[in-house]
Amino acid sequence: MTVWFDIAKGLERILQVTAAELKPFDDIFSAEIRQADPRFGDYQANGVLPFARSKNLNPRTLAESLTAALIDSGRLDPEVAEVSVAGPGFLNFKLQPPFLFRWLETFQNRDQLREAAARHYKGRKIVVDYSSPNAAKQMHVGHIRSTVIGEPIKRMLTFYGARVIGDNHIGDWGTGFGKLILAIKSTDYDLEVERENPLADLEALYKRGNQMAEDSGEALQQARQELVKLQNDDAENRSCWESINRISRAGFHKIYRRLGVTFDHELGESFYRDKVERVYRELEETGVGRESEGAWVVFFPHHARFKEQPFIYRKSDGASNYASTDLATALYRLEAFEADEIIYVTDSRQRDYFEQLFLAVTAWFEKKGYKLPRLQHVWFGTILGDDRKPMKSRSGAPIFLNDLLDEAVERAFRIVEEKNPHLTTGEKQDIAETVGVGAVRYADLMQNRTGDYVFSWNKLLSLEGNTAPYLLYAVARIKSIFRKMGVPENTPLPHATPLETEAERGLARKLTAFPHALDQALSDLKPHHLCTYLYELAGAFSTFYNADKVNVDEPGPRQRRLMLCQRTSLVLQTGLHLLGIRPLEKM
Ligand code: ARG
Repeated sequence: MTVWFDIAKGLERILQVTAAELKPFDDIFSAEIRQADPRFGDYQANGVLPFARSKNLNPRTLAESLTAALIDSGRLDPEVAEVSVAGPGFLNFKLQPPFLFRWLETFQNRDQLREAAARHYKGRKIVVDYSSPNAAKQMHVGHIRSTVIGEPIKRMLTFYGARVIGDNHIGDWGTGFGKLILAIKSTDYDLEVERENPLADLEALYKRGNQMAEDSGEALQQARQELVKLQNDDAENRSCWESINRISRAGFHKIYRRLGVTFDHELGESFYRDKVERVYRELEETGVGRESEGAWVVFFPHHARFKEQPFIYRKSDGASNYASTDLATALYRLEAFEADEIIYVTDSRQRDYFEQLFLAVTAWFEKKGYKLPRLQHVWFGTILGDDRKPMKSRSGAPIFLNDLLDEAVERAFRIVEEKNPHLTTGEKQDIAETVGVGAVRYADLMQNRTGDYVFSWNKLLSLEGNTAPYLLYAVARIKSIFRKMGVPENTPLPHATPLETEAERGLARKLTAFPHALDQALSDLKPHHLCTYLYELAGAFSTFYNADKVNVDEPGPRQRRLMLCQRTSLVLQTGLHLLGIRPLEKM
């Protein structure tokens, strides 16, 4: 019996080859497999209907001939799945208990899952550009999404065998530095003194510099000069800039440590400042860019929306901008990292920008004969407050990420104290940190990223519903089952007997759908598919656990039920890990 890791993919393959051999199917036919309504089966193929419509044929007859061919070809082992035609011409597949059991026996631990998954993206080099905050500013709640969404994308792609390079493209270069340096100098602010929250000071200083430049033409002039001096490598300004960056990065890293987020590179915008000349040269020589009113731009005369909206990549004063840096960054990622794919994670306000960037890069690389990496913009909506406006504190000030996480942990601590008063304070704190931080992240990840969502403390910390506490609790509960039975969680279970009860089979079905959920999450780079799946899995486990006693004497049922507990724990923990959340032993 072939044990497919991703069953939907396996079914899709056999359906595709069978249709290819069968008249009148041709390549218009889509063998795509999706999850079925559980009342009718596990997976469904819907491609016969549109195909029949386009050829003016009877879908039901076509579906029946396809089903017969699938069975006759021997490609669909009857022990794996039963196929039937439903309604006007859907193909329904129902997985069979022997196959479910074999799947569970085949994938026993994280390494085995990883090995099977890693065949899919093997060797593909993918750069994930995420988090990417701007220097001299505290990360506020608006910055959480890029970091929180980028991390699972990186982890899932790695799990699937890609060679992923996480790059935190920090905004550490730009016109703002002139104003900031002006304010630092005019207030004699000493950057070398240790302080409680130096990033907050820098933010205030930047505002002050900005105000100064707004209030007086002379100050504006001075700020410009400071910037020119920095760009010309003036020693004092250079060292000032370095301190600002050191302070900023230290502040960001405090948050990354809390979130368990790490990067392979943090090149930052400044890394590309000597690489923009080549961009200017090549865009000019290929005719992709041209001068317009003193600035350098790419026009999109045939584009419906961008006809009147050129892409400016060099300002009329000759200075570089966000776009020039990103053009240079794309080329660097191709040449230095040999990227097959580049993924950018930012908010939805940058959609037009990235669409234009991708058009410009495509035209430029094509003209130069460079291999074009696949470029994807993973964008997300806004976190809203109760008033359905972008979330702010009561006083209307922005909410800083660190404060938000602190509050989450405090609230989680109170819940742990109430539920588990007998734990030591250290244990409570440890649990609260994981639950609090995990809850905030999960609340973000479980949403379809392209929408906005309303932030709600009560919802995200609830032990019921699609939340991190619920999933963490589900893992802790399975761990306590093993503890109470006095069996180690990784104990071998050689005497497990075939699945018998409805609840056992239901849980096994859900477990085997893990790869399909990951595949969905990766194909549109939306982690919420994985969240939905984990939530449903935890539900299937509860149903099983309420229906069937695990601690029975008979070795067969006892071992197979323990096996179901083990595999649920494995999949839940692997899933949480991929989302960036560390599971707990106890809760
Ligand atoms: N620093 C930018 C911002 O805060 C995000 C950078 C995203 N990455 C990029 N390559 N443009 O909006």
